[in-house]
Amino acid sequence: MVIMVDPKEVLELIKSRRSIRCFSDDMIPDDQINMILEAGKWAPTASNRQEVRFLVIKDKDILNKLSETAIYGKFVREAPILIAIIGKTHENPNWYVQDTSLASMNMMLMAWSLDIGTCWIGSMDRKAAKQILNLKKDDFLLTILPFGYLRKDIPNPPPRKELEDITKKIE
Ligand SMILES: Cc1cc2nc3c(=O)[nH]c(=O)nc-3n(C[C@H](O)[C@H](O)[C@H](O)COP(=O)(O)O)c2cc1C
Repeated sequence: MVIMVDPKEVLELIKSRRSIRCFSDDMIPDDQINMILEAGKWAPTASNRQEVRFLVIKDKDILNKLSETAIYGKFVREAPILIAIIGKTHENPNWYVQDTSLASMNMMLMAWSLDIGTCWIGSMDRKAAKQILNLKKDDFLLTILPFGYLRKDIPNPPPRKELEDITKKIE
């Protein structure tokens, strides 16, 4: 036994996670924010370079400004915190997309296990968002993830393709 976690529960956590777009005002306590950040920190990175940075944003003014940069994500303004996930294009030119993406997935799952919802924000004006956050030219802003407790019921799962249709076995 590598680790005492029920594999069925791990799969249930993965399958039950939904993109959440409505958040309550309740602030997330620091210990839970830290667990989410730890989960991001422990994601694998190429050659263990660990050139991934997290920016935790609670400031309502900055949060509102950032929400304006999200094309399909104005709802992020509702969240009590945003975490910007930043890669380093200069220090880590080959793998900054993979390293930051893996960190963000860990964080989304950790949050879900704490009853905290989030949603990947893909379409955004990254140039404007980088300016608001005073990021450097070489910084790669992967996404700004909103984190918050749910204000509405968990949405129904959008359908997934059948495993047989996306898997080929070479035996
Ligand atoms: C790369 C990427 C970009 C996304 N961009 C947005 C976005 O800009 N706005 C949004 O509301 N959801 C966004 N999503 C969330 C997807 O719409 C969502 O994951 C998908 O519909 C499946 O739903 P689920 O996460 O509840 O399983 C994005 C997801 C990914 C992986």
